[in-house]
This record gives sequence, C-alpha cells and structure tokens, in this order.
Amino acid sequence: MKTLVEFIWEQQEQHVGYATGEFSRLLNDIGIAAKIVNRDVNRAGLSGILGSEGTVNVQGESQKKLDVLANNEFIKALRNGKQCAAIISEENEDVVVFDEKTTENAKYIVAIDPLDGSSNIEVNVPIGTIFAIYKRKSLGKIITTEDVLQAGTELVCGGYIIYGSSTMLVYTTGHGVNGFTYDPTCGLFILSHENIKIGETGNIYSINEANYIYFAEGVKRYIKYCQEDDKASNRPYTTRYIGSLVSDFHRNLLRGGIYIYPGTLKNPNGKLRLMYECIPVAFLAEQAGGKASDGYKRILDIQPHHIHQRVPLFIGSKDMVDKAEEMMRIYSPGFAKLIED
Ligand code: AHG
Ligand code: MN
Ligand code: MN
Repeated sequence: MKTLVEFIWEQQEQHVGYATGEFSRLLNDIGIAAKIVNRDVNRAGLSGILGSEGTVNVQGESQKKLDVLANNEFIKALRNGKQCAAIISEENEDVVVFDEKTTENAKYIVAIDPLDGSSNIEVNVPIGTIFAIYKRKSLGKIITTEDVLQAGTELVCGGYIIYGSSTMLVYTTGHGVNGFTYDPTCGLFILSHENIKIGETGNIYSINEANYIYFAEGVKRYIKYCQEDDKASNRPYTTRYIGSLVSDFHRNLLRGGIYIYPGTLKNPNGKLRLMYECIPVAFLAEQAGGKASDGYKRILDIQPHHIHQRVPLFIGSKDMVDKAEEMMRIYSPGFAKLIED
C-alpha cells in the first residue's frame, strides 16, 4: 500500500534527484485541500452549501456556493504552503498574487479550476478539480507575465481530482500517469491506478450534441463517422456525456474514447479554458499515450495570451483524435484561422 505522500517523494527522488521537497510540499497541499473539498462536496446537501452564491465570475457564469468554497480552500492551502507565488483561477478575474513574504522564495505558479462541472453539483453527478503547476521563470518579489502565461510544454505537473462514486486524485509530472483513490476511513490517498495508459482507440465519443447545428462541418462529419456501421472498427461507437470535463475525461482515459468540446462560428474558441482546463488534461492524455488537439494543432504548443483564454478541445485515444483532426482538415480547413492564436 503506497500513499500519495510517499509516492510523490519517491518520484521526486527518482526523477529529480536533488529534490528540495518544495514541489512535494506543493502537491501535498493540493491533496490536503482536495480532502476538505471532498468533505464539503459529500455533505453538500446537508450543510446548506448547495445552490448559487448570487455572484457572477469573470466568464459571466453564475457562481455556485461550492465554486467559491472550493476556490477559497485551494487558495488557502497554497498560500499557507508557501511554495506557490500566484494562482490563476477560474473564479478570480485577475491573477491571485500572494504577499511578498510568500512570493519571494516561492518557485511555482498554479492554474486551477477549483470545481469543474458545477452545473452538476445539485444532482450528485461526479464533479472535479483540475490543476496545472508551472515553475516561475523569474524569482523574486515581482511576478512577471512570463511567469504566468506559460505554454503547456512548460508544465511541471498536471492533474485532477474527481469527486465521484469514489474520490480520486490523478496526476502526472511527465513520467506517466498515476491515480490515487481516497480512503475516507483513514483519510489517505492510496495508489490504486499505477501507470495509466489510454487505449490507442476506443468506442466512446463524448460531445454535447445539442449544439450540432452550430458545429463546423468537420465536427459534424466526425460525429456521423462515429455513428456509422462498420464492424471492423467497432462502429457505431457509443455516446457518453456527463457534462463535467473531469468525469468525461476520466472515464475515457480508463475506457478509451474521445471527448470533444469544439468551437462554433459564434464562439470559435469553444467554452473550455486553456490554462486551467485544457492544458492539464492534455498533459495527462499525452502521458497516458493519448492525444489532445484544438482540431488542428497540439494543445500543449499553444502560447496563452490571457489567463482565461478559451480553446476548442479534442482529446483522448490517439487514433480517434487523429481521425477527428483529419475531418477538420478536410471539411473545415478555414475554421483554423478563427481560433485565437
Ligand atoms: P465549470 O463547471 O468549471 O464551469 O466547467 C464546465 C465545463 C466542463 O466541465 C464541461 O465539460 C462543460 O462545461 C460542459 O458544457 P456544456 O454544458 O455546454 O456541455
Ligand atoms: Mn470547468
Ligand atoms: Mn469550475
């Protein structure tokens, strides 16, 4: 039985050698906040924290009480831990910069979606937290734009927590993907899914098909491709769509499949946010042997220009993402230009 804490230290020793323990501490702090949020999510119906906060975030979305609570818990844990200099959060318009005493020696920046799938909170469907950890480019009291706006290729760690039928923390530091199941009886995350690999192909496709008429021709053709009858390639595939990226991605990671949140003519960049939703799951997908694309190019290669930037997402089993990209290239070659560069 290996705990998350033991595993993090072991991995650091093995891959970094000179580990100072700072990164391990940071990741542990995320694990601690995750336990608190897990408790709140589990008891939400009992403790009067379901429903809306009555406020709207920078994306114009209504904030749920649990969005705000989870955001506060992660910020608190990361501030106390002193390894993180600043946080990019879905729930904060600007970068949350910690005070100078904290930032001076803190080497890391965290981008976070504290609660993903918040529209599902009231109906007991799995929800999650998504996080990305970057190393600062500069050190000192001042946080620079280069510290904050880093491409996915610079990522140190990407991961998520899924608050589901059981709670799991899944992360990668670029040496494979590992999953830890939370045991509430002893309050520990235990290694349960070692070296997760996604199938090269699968038979699940996940997309909010209600938006069909707004999709680019390439997306429409790919959906039709998924629905065709072809025994050799195991088609028609099956549809599974929960509506929280963490849950949809987690299922497809374990089972094999593709998740798509495409752009539309009205919103060419789609809905999902590059820095705290797409980049971390893209890193996980690649580390598991899968692929993540905006329909034309690799998600991890995109240079963010602002912290709440959105991007279309095609992610999952490599062969399925390849096929979807092929459809985009053939049937919607012009759409690529509409996606923000
Ligand atoms: P969040 O709750 O953090 O705002 O994210 C919701 C996102 C994502 O989790 C999910 O995949 C997607 O919204 C679902 O959107 P639709 O309801 O448009 O399908
Ligand atoms: Mn989200
Ligand atoms: Mn969210």
